[in-house]
Amino acid sequence: MKALVYLGPYRKALEERAKPVMVAPTDAIVKITRTTICGTDLHILKGDVPTCAPGRILGHEGVGIVDAVGTGVTAFKVGDAVLISCISACGKCINCRRQMYSHCTTGGWILGNSIDGTQAEFVRIPHADLSLYAIPAGADEEALVMLSDILPTALECGVLNGKVQPGGTVAIVGSGPIGLAALLTAQFYSPAEVIMIDLDAGRLAVARRFGATATVDSSDGHAAETVLKLTGGLGVDTAIEAVGVPATFELCQQIVAVGGTIANIGVHGVKVDLHLESLWDRNVSITTRLVDTASTPMLLKTLCSHKLDPKPLITHRFKLDQILDAYETFAHAAETHALKVLIEA
Ligand SMILES: NC(=O)c1ccc[n+]([C@@H]2O[C@H](COP(=O)([O-])OP(=O)(O)OC[C@H]3O[C@@H](n4cnc5c(N)ncnc54)[C@H](O)[C@@H]3O)[C@@H](O)[C@H]2O)c1
Ligand SMILES: [Zn+2]
Ligand SMILES: [Zn+2]
Repeated sequence: MKALVYLGPYRKALEERAKPVMVAPTDAIVKITRTTICGTDLHILKGDVPTCAPGRILGHEGVGIVDAVGTGVTAFKVGDAVLISCISACGKCINCRRQMYSHCTTGGWILGNSIDGTQAEFVRIPHADLSLYAIPAGADEEALVMLSDILPTALECGVLNGKVQPGGTVAIVGSGPIGLAALLTAQFYSPAEVIMIDLDAGRLAVARRFGATATVDSSDGHAAETVLKLTGGLGVDTAIEAVGVPATFELCQQIVAVGGTIANIGVHGVKVDLHLESLWDRNVSITTRLVDTASTPMLLKTLCSHKLDPKPLITHRFKLDQILDAYETFAHAAETHALKVLIEA
C-alpha cells in the first residue's frame, strides 16, 4: 500500500509499505477513504515530537471502511463505515475511567506518533471499540474528517475548559483551523462577543464569515489595547490560546477579565512567562488539556442535525498519490489560503 512516511526532521516520502496486520484481538484494520494533515504533523516534520521516530507513517485523522476486526472487537464488523478518533482509548484504565482518554495508559495520542497513522491506504486501530465511531447514514464524510481531531480539540480544550457562556465575551488568539473550530463550537453557547485575533488578514476574513463579532490583526503589536477598547476596558471572560507560542499566551494574560479563564490549546515547545505580578488578585483560572475526544458523540449529533457545519474549513482536495503537494499547500497557508486539505485514498 502507499503511505506517507516521516524519515527524520524535514524529510518525508510517499513509500510502498506492507498492509498493516492485527497485533491484538482488540484491533481493527481500516481501509482509509479520506484523511487530512494537521498542524501537529508539521511539528513532527520539524523534529519537535521526539516520540515520533523516523519510519513512522504519519496522520491521526480520517474516515474509512472496516477491513478486518480482531476477536475482541464487538462494536464493529467488516464493511462498517467509521470515523477514526485521533485518540486511542482502552476504556478500562485509570485515566479512561475518568474520561481522560488522551492519557489512556495503553493508548492516548499514539496514531501517527508512536504507531503508524492514517495517511496511508490502510491503518491498524488499537482498542477499536472505543477509538472508532460508526458513521451515521447520510452523514457528510468530508465534514466528518473534521471530527477526528480539530473540533473535539477546539471544543474541549478551548470552549469547555474556557467556560464559554451565554452573554459572555470570548477572544480566540489564532485563527488557524483550531481557532476557527473554537469559533464554530463557541457559538453552541451563545457568547455575546467572539473576537478573533491573528496576523493573517486572510484568516481573519474567514473568521468574520464564520461568525466572529470582531477581528483584530495583531501584527501592529497593539492587540491587547484593541481588545480592551472593544470590551470597554474589562477584557474577555474567556481567552483561548490557539497558536502555541509565548507571545500569544502572554496576550491572553493581558486581555483576560477579572474572574475570567485562559484556556490553552496550543502545543508549546518553549517556556512562557506567567505574570503573577499582575494576575494574582484577578481571580483568573488557567487551563491546559490534551484533547480527550470525549465530546465526539455529541459533535456527531450536532453535525448530523446541521447545528454544526465544519465543511467550509476544507479548502483543498488531493488524491493520496498527490500527498506531497498537499503538504506543500498546507505548509504555505499564507500564500495558498489553505485551512484543511482533504486527501482521498
Ligand atoms: N491541545 C491539543 O490537544 C491540541 C490538539 C491539536 C492541535 N493543537 C495545537 O493547536 C495549535 C493551533 O493549531 P492549528 O492547526 O490551528 O495551527 P496553525 O499553525 O494552522 O494556526 C495558527 C494560527 O496562529 C496565527 N499566529 C501565529 N503567530 C501569531 C501571533 N503572534 N499572534 C496571533 N496569531 C498568530 C497564524 O497566523 C495561524 O493562523 C497548534 O499549536 C497545534 O499544535 C493542540
Ligand atoms: Zn492533530
Ligand atoms: Zn485506557
